[in-house]
Amino acid sequence: MNRFDEAAKTWDKRQVSIESSDACVQDLLKNVQIKDDANILDYGCGTGFIAFALKNETNNVTGMDYSNGMIEVFNKKVAEFELEDIKAIKHNMNEEELPKETFDLIISSKTMHHIKDTNMFFKKSYNTLKNGGILCINDLDKEDGSFHKDKENDGVEHFGYEKEELFDIAKNLGFEIIAYNIVYNQEKNGKHYPLFNLIVKK
Ligand SMILES: C[S@@+](CC[C@H](N)C(=O)[O-])C[C@H]1O[C@@H](n2cnc3c(N)ncnc32)[C@H](O)[C@@H]1O
Repeated sequence: MNRFDEAAKTWDKRQVSIESSDACVQDLLKNVQIKDDANILDYGCGTGFIAFALKNETNNVTGMDYSNGMIEVFNKKVAEFELEDIKAIKHNMNEEELPKETFDLIISSKTMHHIKDTNMFFKKSYNTLKNGGILCINDLDKEDGSFHKDKENDGVEHFGYEKEELFDIAKNLGFEIIAYNIVYNQEKNGKHYPLFNLIVKK
């Protein structure tokens, strides 16, 4: 059991995650026109704050996450609300490939800093997007290592990101930069931690 399996039990009660996910989605919708029948991937979906917010009558939403606990909570809500064309499946970005040229939109919120190889994350995302597809990364701005101090930085591979390092990785793979905005300021232990949306296009 990883720490996210345990966290999944109370994840939906985290007001700050509800608010920051909402801010992420609002910024995404301001910057990108998503077609009604889009095939959407929420990578590192957790219990699905973003996935459920993006679900409409005609689209298809897949959540992927390596935590059994998160996936269980996600899929329980799908069953409870009798939703169709939305599901969460188990996937570990470090170990598995993604299907080729499948998604119109990938959104990944507060997940990439848990994955060591950022270039690999962008490359796998690029390959699983259709041409013209959008990748939106929502994550922490560069921080001093104090954000996950209470978890002793367990499973944390990056203390946030500099905008330029992500622009370089994205551009080198062939992505076009669409937008970069600070969408939320998370308060924790008396400090403010900005969260950005980086939106790029294949
Ligand atoms: C901070 S949580 C964010 C969850 C959700 N996006 C949200 O904002 O509520 C990070 C998520 O990334 C997942 N994760 C971490 N490393 C992963 C990996 N290598 N492959 C797939 N998922 C991973 C965790 O299980 C967890 O659900």
